[in-house]
Amino acid sequence: MMQMNPTTSAVYDETPYPSYAYPRTAPSRLAALGTLFGISPPAPATARVLELGCGMGGNLLPIAARFPRGRFVGIDYSAVQIAQAQVDAAALGLANVRFDGRSILDIPDDELGTFDYVIAHGLYSWVPAPVRERLMEMIGRILAPNGVAYVSFNARPGWDAIRSLRDAMLYRIRDLGSNAERIEAARRFADYMAGHMTADAGAVREVLAREVERMKRIPDAFLLHDHLEATNDAFYLSEVLDHAAAHGLRYLGDATLYAMPLATPSDDDRERIARIGACGDLAKIEQYRDFLNNRRFRMTLLCRSSATPNWRITPDSLAKLRIISDCRPPRPVPPHAKGRLKALPLDHRGKPVGTVAGVTLVACVLAAIEAGPAGLSFGELVATAARALARPRSEVARDFAEAFGNLASAKIVDVALLPPSYALKPAARPHGFAPARLAAGRGEIAPNMRHETVRLDAAQRAVLAQLDGHHGLAELAAALPEVENPAAVLQALADMALLRK
Ligand SMILES: C[S@@+](CC[C@H](N)C(=O)[O-])C[C@H]1O[C@@H](n2cnc3c(N)ncnc32)[C@H](O)[C@@H]1O
Repeated sequence: MMQMNPTTSAVYDETPYPSYAYPRTAPSRLAALGTLFGISPPAPATARVLELGCGMGGNLLPIAARFPRGRFVGIDYSAVQIAQAQVDAAALGLANVRFDGRSILDIPDDELGTFDYVIAHGLYSWVPAPVRERLMEMIGRILAPNGVAYVSFNARPGWDAIRSLRDAMLYRIRDLGSNAERIEAARRFADYMAGHMTADAGAVREVLAREVERMKRIPDAFLLHDHLEATNDAFYLSEVLDHAAAHGLRYLGDATLYAMPLATPSDDDRERIARIGACGDLAKIEQYRDFLNNRRFRMTLLCRSSATPNWRITPDSLAKLRIISDCRPPRPVPPHAKGRLKALPLDHRGKPVGTVAGVTLVACVLAAIEAGPAGLSFGELVATAARALARPRSEVARDFAEAFGNLASAKIVDVALLPPSYALKPAARPHGFAPARLAAGRGEIAPNMRHETVRLDAAQRAVLAQLDGHHGLAELAAALPEVENPAAVLQALADMALLRK
């Protein structure tokens, strides 16, 4: 007998969830982190990828478009959203992706087979217990031996601090019918609350007022589903990992590399970690950090319990990876200083992130920065720095690997598995990334080939619409006289990773 679905998709059918690309869910990203932690995950280009609660396919479609040899399945019980995903897959001519409009409760395991990567973004916290149980059970059954699963959830203790605001809004809208009415009334009441909480509320008043401000920047559909869904449960990381363990899964890492406690602990910290019994157990350290940071959201990577992640970074962990850096020195480094500089202050997106200390690390980080968005393979990075320093490669590799955790935690370096698949300079007749062209036809937000979400202005959207591989600068100028400098717009699109190689 089919299991009863204890929830209804009506709320998502009436108000679909805006569907975007989430960079941290990309299989190439999951593969890079799995490789870093030594579990040898399957190649993303030919991977089998399953997304649970895929909505309108805004996350899965750009991945399927980038990897034509992969096989993709998206499941979501909202018929309206799945219909849109199917229309878009057809418009993009993608034969490697299938969308299934059923509840995960109604899909038997043997129908699915095995998957190398499983993505469940925004599902675990927002579904009732039986669906949550099925979600973890399903991952436990279908994940390939070296596969990686991504499960995001609202985390405790951070979510506990704002729960009373959700409860107050739900209480206010309990008798209201349409989604539009509910959103409007919830917003008004939250605003009223922020202005009228009494001094008796103490410090909570400030916390909730800040949250109300934050909610003002959230579009209606996100407010409805992220805050006002019938189910919205937060969990401690340890609870989710216990749940995972019951289904043969274990902690691999956090999808946000810089948030992981990979930095070398100070002597003080080392002692404290030993005292709390968390030595060598990264998941325990992470749970303690959640208490200290009041963390409220997590993007957790799981692997099979039989896999053995190794969080101590060595040259071997980095051997198959590319090292990239998004940082810039505030002033250019003169060529004669390379290989001699002992300290290098760095900015990340305009904000200082710290200073790299020591000639070896400075040479390595400079090599990564100078390689631009493509970064360098670990071997190339070590060879470049070793040349500049006149030091043996093995020593440079060892020093860089030892410092990798500190550099990653400071957002100075990151890893990637694959070189960029997008053009850094526009070709004579550029091809725009098809899912971005489709999205740009509807609005300002589009997925790029780094699986990020980018915002496009009117000129960029108009030019992107023309980029079918038949239009060069002359044709663009003729077709779009209102665009002042098509060459500059093309380069901006290349910088946003929107042009195919
Ligand atoms: C908060 S939305 C997240 C959508 C998408 N993953 C994203 O992050 O953009 C949750 C999604 O899960 C779907 N969903 C909820 N319960 C489900 C179930 N039992 N089976 C399949 N999908 C479900 C909803 O229809 C909705 O699209």
